[in-house]
Amino acid sequence: MPTLAIVGAGPGLGLSIARVFGAQGYSVALIARSRSTLDSLVAGLPGVDAAGYPADIMDRPSLVDAFKEIAANHDPVEVLEFSPAPRGPEPGLVLAGPLDVSVANVQPHFDFYVHGAITATGQVLPGMLERGTGTLLYTTGPHAVTPAPAMGNVGMACAALRNWVLNLHDALADKGVYAAHVPLATDAEPDAIAPHYWRIHTAGEGGEHLLSPEALRSTREL
Ligand SMILES: NC(=O)c1ccc[n+]([C@@H]2O[C@H](COP(=O)([O-])OP(=O)(O)OC[C@H]3O[C@@H](n4cnc5c(N)ncnc54)[C@H](OP(=O)(O)O)[C@@H]3O)[C@@H](O)[C@H]2O)c1
Repeated sequence: MPTLAIVGAGPGLGLSIARVFGAQGYSVALIARSRSTLDSLVAGLPGVDAAGYPADIMDRPSLVDAFKEIAANHDPVEVLEFSPAPRGPEPGLVLAGPLDVSVANVQPHFDFYVHGAITATGQVLPGMLERGTGTLLYTTGPHAVTPAPAMGNVGMACAALRNWVLNLHDALADKGVYAAHVPLATDAEPDAIAPHYWRIHTAGEGGEHLLSPEALRSTREL
């Protein structure tokens, strides 16, 4: 049974993506900090082989440990989906406009998005390369593509993540592993967005999929 690992799984997009892949026969490994969040996600996935692994993206050894447990409990990770989202104000992860960006307020966003994604990817990519198969999907927002002043510091980190993923996509193109950046530019319900992750995974084409309201309307899902 192939495994989907979601880094930053929550009751929004994470749960909906888990449902879609679970319905397609995937085992689902969910990573978030809170055990109670993970327990309620697993409870919301009846009939799906799902389990939660607590880890904090900002504490990279804990993220590495979570993937070790996933490797021990599941078949190899076939799909990695990285979509952590702070749920409310987080100390350290503050927003700053361009005039207020500082080393102190941009560094945590790089830790969260860039270093978190590199760490998670490092736990699954070697196996994918060995098997010659796998999908890596990284979710951000439109500010990763188009600068948005209100997102001055977080936009820098998401743009850096995007830059890496686009290069990763090209570097992996002839190796059987597919990587893509998925900027979400819609306030559609997660259940309406999640099937597009299955479509993107199964098509395995393109380094970036901007999910705007127009894109959601114009593309067939499953
Ligand atoms: N219009 C838009 O642009 C739009 C709309 C919707 C979603 N999105 C994007 O979609 C993605 C998912 O958003 P969502 O709100 O639907 O999220 P979600 O899947 O409901 O939950 C995300 C989870 O990330 C976890 N998380 C936060 N900080 C973490 C950390 N340091 N380490 C590990 N896990 C952490 C949280 O759990 P814990 O607190 O337990 O760790 C949370 O449950 C995000 O990338 C978001 O930006 C964009």
